[in-house]
Amino acid sequence: MSEINLKSKEYIQSSNADLSSSAQKNSDTVIEFKNVSKTYQQCIRAVDSASFKISVGEFISLVGPSGAGKSTLIRLLTAAEKPTSGQIYVASRDITQLKKQELPFYHRKVGVIFQDFKLLPRKTVYENIAFALEVADIANKEITERVPKIIEIVGLTSRINAMTEELSGGEKQRVSIARALVHNPKLLIADEPTGNLDPVSTWEIIELLFKINKQGTIVILATHDKEVVDTLERRVISMRDGKIISDQEKGKYVL
Ligand SMILES: Nc1ncnc2c1ncn2[C@@H]1O[C@H](COP(=O)(O)OP(=O)(O)O)[C@@H](O)[C@H]1O
Ligand SMILES: [Mg+2]
Repeated sequence: MSEINLKSKEYIQSSNADLSSSAQKNSDTVIEFKNVSKTYQQCIRAVDSASFKISVGEFISLVGPSGAGKSTLIRLLTAAEKPTSGQIYVASRDITQLKKQELPFYHRKVGVIFQDFKLLPRKTVYENIAFALEVADIANKEITERVPKIIEIVGLTSRINAMTEELSGGEKQRVSIARALVHNPKLLIADEPTGNLDPVSTWEIIELLFKINKQGTIVILATHDKEVVDTLERRVISMRDGKIISDQEKGKYVL
């Protein structure tokens, strides 16, 4: 294992001691799934009676084989789709009942990143992030102040004017994390964010997610990466066939 991998692992493990105790002290529920199901085409139960709670400060790995329902569960939480039945409370509000005009405001409070980055082509790092603020009608002056600060948080200051096409996979994922953070979300959801990355970039991204969590943002990480999950030593929710088959504090990857 490379030195960078080791450093990231050590950082994550040394951070765990103080974090787990603060998470335990603060048990305020932020997210609650109550018997949530999502059925496609009347037969495929992509999510099947899922119930769980997530509190302030948690870092959660969501694991399970391909087709288990992880991405569907994430789309329900981001209100990209509505469940077939059940309630999803976020900050005491049932988000399945949000009105169409309320959705943009909810989406700003929930940052999402994906395996394929979803960046704008032929735009710079700066422009990719500024765009997320422009569409939210943020004033230009504020955009020019905020964007460089966010770029610094994700460690891309030296690449601020690089085009999307010129970036490595790890750099692209940093841009998408920066874009997900522009509205200071309470929740950052990562759907297989390291699926296209080499091991060194993988650990850099996990370390960055860890730092963001340490600043107080809930992180939910859907992943296949057993080594990542086992190193994190944080809560692990395991899914299979749409069901939550285990939910463990300081869990390990179970198949
Ligand atoms: N839009 C959709 N229409 C029909 N079936 C879907 C749709 N999205 C997901 N599914 C099905 O739901 C199940 C769960 O998929 P998904 O949530 O993508 O799992 P995972 O992210 O764990 O791989 C799979 O059987 C998948 O084929
Ligand atoms: Mg998926």
